[in-house]
Amino acid sequence: MLWMGLHALLRPLWIRLILGQPHLAWEVTARPELVEFSLWVPRLVPPGLIERAVQASWPGASTVETSSDPISSMGRHGPGFIEVTQLVLAEREWFPIGTPGGDSLALALAGLTGLADGEAVAIQMLARPATSASRRRLRRAARSIRAGARFAWRAGRARDRQPVADPAIEGDVRAVLGKAASPQWSCSLRVAVSSPRKDWARGRIHGLAGGFAVFEGRNGFRRRRVPGGLHRMRARRLARSYLLSVPELAEIANLPESGAIAGLERAAAKTVPVPRDLPREGKVLGTADHNVGVERPAAISVEDARHHIHVIGETGTGKSTLLARLVLQDAEAGRSAVVIDPKGDLVNAVLVRLPEGAEERICVIDPEDKISAVGLDVLAGDDQDLVWITSSGCSRESTSPGGGPGPTMSCGRRASPSPGSGGPPWPRFQCC
Ligand SMILES: Nc1ncnc2c1ncn2[C@@H]1O[C@H](COP(=O)(O)OP(=O)(O)OP(=O)(O)O)[C@@H](O)[C@H]1O
Ligand SMILES: [Mg+2]
Repeated sequence: MLWMGLHALLRPLWIRLILGQPHLAWEVTARPELVEFSLWVPRLVPPGLIERAVQASWPGASTVETSSDPISSMGRHGPGFIEVTQLVLAEREWFPIGTPGGDSLALALAGLTGLADGEAVAIQMLARPATSASRRRLRRAARSIRAGARFAWRAGRARDRQPVADPAIEGDVRAVLGKAASPQWSCSLRVAVSSPRKDWARGRIHGLAGGFAVFEGRNGFRRRRVPGGLHRMRARRLARSYLLSVPELAEIANLPESGAIAGLERAAAKTVPVPRDLPREGKVLGTADHNVGVERPAAISVEDARHHIHVIGETGTGKSTLLARLVLQDAEAGRSAVVIDPKGDLVNAVLVRLPEGAEERICVIDPEDKISAVGLDVLAGDDQDLVWITSSGCSRESTSPGGGPGPTMSCGRRASPSPGSGGPPWPRFQCC
């Protein structure tokens, strides 16, 4: 979806003639501690367009504008060896590469993991939207293939020839027409490795380039040396490009699935716009940034918060952090709150962040603290109904199994009156 949407960057003919057509660079850079996915965008591209396209393409993804250039910093940290390879098409550009689907990048991205200190890896895909003339060129090539011509530019001369009875021709024609069915991008793909040791650098670049073998189909990638390669990658000049259709480009310039790179998790949920009537004040739940460039607090009113709030999420999704923030907002506003935490991490998170002066108002009950034990009398209080309800979870059988005195306690059990006994609907309790 990203590359389909960004094809709209194609300028009208007269602007292209005067100002040229900008191209983009999809880059994946890895160092031992970090893997970065970035989209290099020239200043000519209107702000907000890329951000919206990214947000629409991947649920939960957001963009951060940065001035740092990870490719520029490659090889600049101490002595090292640089290997750069360009991946070019093995066959004519009108034949499609294989699009295996699924997580096709997994093999290539495996080359980004397990880097040693001082090693860095980069994959760079330069892409410029191609005009509809490129699709016409592909269709011309399909006609030429059917006509038996070897090269598309001979299509005119091949018109009079008889079709060759080659069983592969129909498949080729279909493949070329299939590629011509979607918008085209002029692309150039390079990979680079910098390493403190030459043999490591060569091993890594072999592994990385080998990862693109999964795109072998009617066409595929072959390696070609790039003299002054890293310099060219830093300059991001698009020369000697070839055509890739949107589905082909999307297979390569894509975010990987969760788990393709150790420690990489994709956002599971799609971001949604904030309802207009959601309060900005009260108990702030977070900052909504769904609309690109617009941030606003998303809050719940204090009255509503007293009713029903459930915070549900998998382990480590930030439940305690959110609850701690809500409790701290109560403490800052002078409201009272009760925190019951079986694990202890939430209480600790709240205690260390309490506003100044709040210690006076805090009471911490810790069941493990035997020195300052707190007694809780569930039967205390003037509200007899409340006492009755509270005590109904704790019954005391009036006689022991032997019929003698010796009372026993049983908790969490509510005895029902025996039929016909005429007794009260609730058991009597005599708790000591
Ligand atoms: N909004 C957030 N943005 C980024 N990181 C967050 C956010 N909220 C929480 N975290 C981080 O996520 C990690 C897990 O948070 P937290 O302990 O609150 O999760 P949890 O859902 O309570 O986990 P558990 O189920 O184990 O109790 C913490 O390191 C926390 O700093
Ligand atoms: Mg928690």
